[in-house]
Amino acid sequence: MTTETATPARKARVLVLFGGRSSEHAVSCVTAAGVLEAIDRSRYDVVPVGIARSGQWSLVSADPSAWSLRSDVLPEVTANEQAVVMGTAVDGRAGQELLVAAPGSVPESLGRVDVVLPLLHGPFGEDGTLQGMLEMADMRYVGAGVLASAVGMDKHFMKVVFASVGLEVGPYVVVTDRQWRTDSEASIERATALGFPLFVKPARAGSSMGITRVEDAAGIRAAVEAARAFDPKVVIEAGIVGREIEVAVLQGRGLDAPRTSLPGEIAIQPGDHAWYDFEAKYVDGAAAELSCPADLPAEVIERVRHSAAEAFEAIGGEGLSRVDFFYTPEGRLVINEINTMPGFTPISMYPQMWAKSGLGYTELIDELIGLALDRGTGLR
Ligand SMILES: Nc1ncnc2c1ncn2[C@@H]1O[C@H](COP(=O)(O)OP(=O)(O)O)[C@@H](O)[C@H]1O
Ligand SMILES: [Mg+2]
Repeated sequence: MTTETATPARKARVLVLFGGRSSEHAVSCVTAAGVLEAIDRSRYDVVPVGIARSGQWSLVSADPSAWSLRSDVLPEVTANEQAVVMGTAVDGRAGQELLVAAPGSVPESLGRVDVVLPLLHGPFGEDGTLQGMLEMADMRYVGAGVLASAVGMDKHFMKVVFASVGLEVGPYVVVTDRQWRTDSEASIERATALGFPLFVKPARAGSSMGITRVEDAAGIRAAVEAARAFDPKVVIEAGIVGREIEVAVLQGRGLDAPRTSLPGEIAIQPGDHAWYDFEAKYVDGAAAELSCPADLPAEVIERVRHSAAEAFEAIGGEGLSRVDFFYTPEGRLVINEINTMPGFTPISMYPQMWAKSGLGYTELIDELIGLALDRGTGLR
């Protein structure tokens, strides 16, 4: 048969998936705007699918401006009549096919999707649940697998894993739902013993949502309640004094070791923001300044890049991750967290650090899709 060789290579079909059920819905939409703008359409056929806050999937606009951040409105996916559902086994093959089901009509196939680019932050996107669903459907996807996603989402378990490979984590306590509801005073006592200030956080959230900096014992209860609005499990950490240094990690090709960017530094401008809160991240553009490469001695740059790669491998990372540290005045690197789907707008830290390290946004997207296409589904 000659027809196959005569046909030009089919473009890879990429399902760009965004929005989602978590509190970071709007951030995900802004990321999608950046990706839809930059993705190389000569190589990829884009299928844009938005997940409404209700969890419903819809075929949505591929126009980046529909999802970008305008000064006063946060973008949001609303479910439309073009509901998207994942196909089940056809011809002995599971999934890989998406259907659009408009009410009252026969579901129509969107064709086979080669790879999913989940631009979702937070629970039901970055935490392994979506990844499990895609594995079940035998679909390839960009980024961390089930376990790495789940560990990377959970500020308690990531610390357990980091400590197990010798990375320094700061002092913390965990307050489970049962502990809080049966004896909140005991939890407050354990937290108080860490000293002040404290950072009280939902175990599984992001974008600084639900986090409170607490100055004294009297503030703990309200802070725990605020965190519990996001997650029944709460992590309380001793405040770390140090500069905020971040490293972008990209899985190596084939059997290569993970690649690390030059480190960046987040400097919070003195003023309204005592720490890197939601407003400083997304609303008040002048509040935080990213410098990359961070002004650090060569030895520290080496050390932080090495630690970032270790953190990535410790959780079993794949694709990408951003690893965040505090660099203390005594020269210690205390790991704060890993993000398996970090902010990914063109001006976010992760793409910026790669840009400063010689890898542009469009190439970065290309690289990530390539890594996902190269690996299969299932246990790896
Ligand atoms: N233990 C801590 N000591 C000092 N500052 C902290 C601590 N934990 C968090 N912060 C501040 O809060 C910000 C958000 O916390 P983080 O744990 O990174 O949550 P998120 O996942 O929402 O980004 C950090 O970037 C930092 O500015
Ligand atoms: Mg953070």
